[in-house]
Amino acid sequence: MTASSEQIIIFDTTLRDGEQCPGATMTFEEKLQVAELLDEMGVDVIEAGFPIASEGDFEAVTEIAKLAKTSVICGLARANFGDIDRAGEAIKLAKRGRIHTFIGTSPLHRQHQLQLDQDQVHEKVIASVTRARQYTDDVEWSAMDATRTEHDYLCRVVEAAIKAGATTINIPDTVGYALPEDYYDLIMMLRNRVPGIEKIVLSTHCHDDLGLAVANSLAGVRAGARQIECTINGLGERAGNAALEEVVMAIRTRHDLLPHRTGIKSEMLSRASRLVSAVTNFPVQYNKAIVGRNAFAHESGIHQDGVLKNTETYEIMTPESVGVGKSSLVMGKHSGRAAFKSKLKDLGYDLGDNAMEDAFNRFKALADRKKHVYDEDIEALVDEGVAHAHDRIKVASLTVIAGTMGPQTATLTLDIDGQQTTVQSVGNGPVDATFNAIKMLMPHEARLDLYQVHAVTEGTDAQAEVSVRLEEGGRIVTGRSADPDTLVASARAYVAALSKLVVKRQKVAQAQHGV
Ligand code: KIV
Ligand code: ZN
Repeated sequence: MTASSEQIIIFDTTLRDGEQCPGATMTFEEKLQVAELLDEMGVDVIEAGFPIASEGDFEAVTEIAKLAKTSVICGLARANFGDIDRAGEAIKLAKRGRIHTFIGTSPLHRQHQLQLDQDQVHEKVIASVTRARQYTDDVEWSAMDATRTEHDYLCRVVEAAIKAGATTINIPDTVGYALPEDYYDLIMMLRNRVPGIEKIVLSTHCHDDLGLAVANSLAGVRAGARQIECTINGLGERAGNAALEEVVMAIRTRHDLLPHRTGIKSEMLSRASRLVSAVTNFPVQYNKAIVGRNAFAHESGIHQDGVLKNTETYEIMTPESVGVGKSSLVMGKHSGRAAFKSKLKDLGYDLGDNAMEDAFNRFKALADRKKHVYDEDIEALVDEGVAHAHDRIKVASLTVIAGTMGPQTATLTLDIDGQQTTVQSVGNGPVDATFNAIKMLMPHEARLDLYQVHAVTEGTDAQAEVSVRLEEGGRIVTGRSADPDTLVASARAYVAALSKLVVKRQKVAQAQHGV
């Protein structure tokens, strides 16, 4: 793939770098859902996974390669033939497939992680790119920790990768160390010094450890990079990657200084953010740029007055341009299927028949319990369905006795693969009693790292959205759920997190027994 001087290639790595983030594991079905949405949204390249990492990753990349309509599907590989062959196999059925191979090039990575000298790394670069070219003409090579690599050596390996056939050269700021000036200078330095660099696409891949991932990516573009690697909601290792929605809207909003365009349908950004947040159970911070719930909210009187007179007084982009509609009172218990379907369409959802019927039934149940049903309620309800559609363990019923006269008691029935079991437990408060009851049915030693509740909308009958994070033996899992009843949402979120833990335990056991 080549880029005209105006076009910036958007390379999304939510399913690879994003999924590497502790606790952000997605199931196979969730990965397909995210990939379908990215494809539809106009993402140029989807890094769908790291095929050698696990059977699950391999299957996800293979399936995404088959279903993608327009995006290039990319699989990651280290600099060895085993990884590259597996990635080549996984992208085989893609309309357009890419192999992305990488190796650490900085002194720290060479000496301490790889225990290889400069010449040995150089040889591996040539061998890995040459091998990848046997599977596809579209090969990306990354100099991991490029921003801490000696310039002369970086030029040497980049030149070698180009000569071996790489068509995209990625310059990762792996540890999020660079400042925008450094990153600009680095890209410029490569463009000035490396023979053949004009034939390939230069790419940015910036981590956010200093909160500069987006700024560095844009500095890279100003210096001549034409691909940006990024993730939805900025998900990724440690502090994350450059956020796709921020990069895209910065390019769109500041066309005066960044005279480029992307192929992204920006009206889908909000929906993409919600989906990724729902499937990873990672809440989006309220004040997150572009997709945070406060991103277009005006609180102070002066701001509200200005916006009412002319939105441009305090808004540099419209909420509609990123898919945020005005929060409106949508429907009540008398609304029918057709109105509900049309509302879902307005909110950017395109559900299949079964999912639509399920969402409608849950909408009806919600409308019975809640006086006003807002857009946010519908979104929470649909996201809830997406997140829990494939759960094997479900909360069938929960009754809690709370109040000043303890002990607080929870009576809980769980449905595990169609089999229902009921237990009763007391606790230090209703949430504790509920979690203790769950623990009786799903024994574990996990530590509760986080228990967080927030209201989806205003009012005392608002749905409560609960997030739970658990840690067991270094494994981190999260669960999230929304319901007008805080305790029901808490129970479901806790069960969702525990279900993920069970899957993780099984995977480890399978790996240990070589299955
Ligand atoms: O951060 C990094 O260096 C990476 C590489 C695999 C590109 O994610
Ligand atoms: Zn990375």
